Amino acid sequence: MRAVVLVGGEGTRLRPLTFETPKPLLPVANQVFLDRQLGWLAAHGVDEVGLSLGYLPSAFIDHYPEGTFTDPAGRTVQLHYAQEPTPLGTAGAVRFAAEQLGVRERFVVCNGDVLTGLDLGALLAFHEARHAEATIHLAAVEEPSRFGVVPTDERGRVLAFVEKPAPGTEPTRWINAGTYVLEPSVLERIAPERPVSIEFDTFPGMLETGGALYARPSDAYWIDVGALAEYLQAHADLLAGRLGTPPAPGAREVSPGVWVQGPGPAPAGVAAPALVGERHQIDPSADVVGSVLGAGVQVGAHATVVDAVLHDRVTIGPDATVRASIVGAGAVVGARATVEAGSIVGPHVTVDAGTTLTGERRPPADSPAARA
Ligand code: GTP
Repeated sequence: MRAVVLVGGEGTRLRPLTFETPKPLLPVANQVFLDRQLGWLAAHGVDEVGLSLGYLPSAFIDHYPEGTFTDPAGRTVQLHYAQEPTPLGTAGAVRFAAEQLGVRERFVVCNGDVLTGLDLGALLAFHEARHAEATIHLAAVEEPSRFGVVPTDERGRVLAFVEKPAPGTEPTRWINAGTYVLEPSVLERIAPERPVSIEFDTFPGMLETGGALYARPSDAYWIDVGALAEYLQAHADLLAGRLGTPPAPGAREVSPGVWVQGPGPAPAGVAAPALVGERHQIDPSADVVGSVLGAGVQVGAHATVVDAVLHDRVTIGPDATVRASIVGAGAVVGARATVEAGSIVGPHVTVDAGTTLTGERRPPADSPAARA
């Protein structure tokens, strides 16, 4: 089975982390997110993937130098790179990547920022049973007004697409969750060489022309990790075991709810739930809880790290505090500094001793934003 994964977006909502690393290559619970997604696809029988590239394409080629991905169970996915000459929108990108991949049979499409426990086999079986031309995975969310809402009839035939309805007017809580099963005929519905959106153009166009467009609701875990609050929530959910355990491949539960990568016992100063990467140095007087710490992270004496995500090689100085925030790889939070309330510290940035960042984003000095 073949799949196209859309990974070409700029990831503006996770800046400054995405200035040098495209969103799908950021870690989620210490595993590159796209590795996680390719593992999920491989577990459902996908063995060939077209990566639809746009923004920072060489980062993907560097991450998969052999052009393959092998999951911890030994399943290998062959990768093909499709780099759009100009941005083609979601549908244009799918058509371009599918052509590069030589797709002539049913295939799967997914957004490169969706973390889900969806049973892809069940979605394929649903599609097959209804002789659908396209089938959309639907997830239920609390705030459907932020999404594309998709009402269906009892058999799952799509009745309408309601993009970002005003709060209180949503016809249903079921939203387009960004995973599709498509017949190759859908590609003929997408005009070549100009931007076309699958959500705004292709699927609504199928409705108008009576195409067999279906959608299947699923209660499986689902979250779009592309924004700060959801990125943090995905970590909390992985720590809580909502996608199964361990939260990262190879992690060991060294005491209830405390997961460690690499050798050694539960580090003093860390309380459940938590995931701590290898080669950590955590002062026993620190207070780390509800957090994911990458490889080589150092946490100083009496520092506090709560509901936070620290990428690899982050240093937290003595008496510093990080709460509900993300700290990018190699960054330093100085002694007594506070990073809180949905802040993002960019990679290699130093937050000066004693400084407070509240809901702030700190880009690296050499980033496009800082230069502007
Ligand atoms: P934001 O800028 O934060 O909205 O993120 P984004 O650029 O990733 O946009 P969004 O989350 O809406 O994109 C959904 C999916 O489509 C992601 O997997 C993106 O990588 C992908 N995507 C968005 N735009 C393009 C594009 O022009 N080309 C390709 N190939 N993929 C895209």
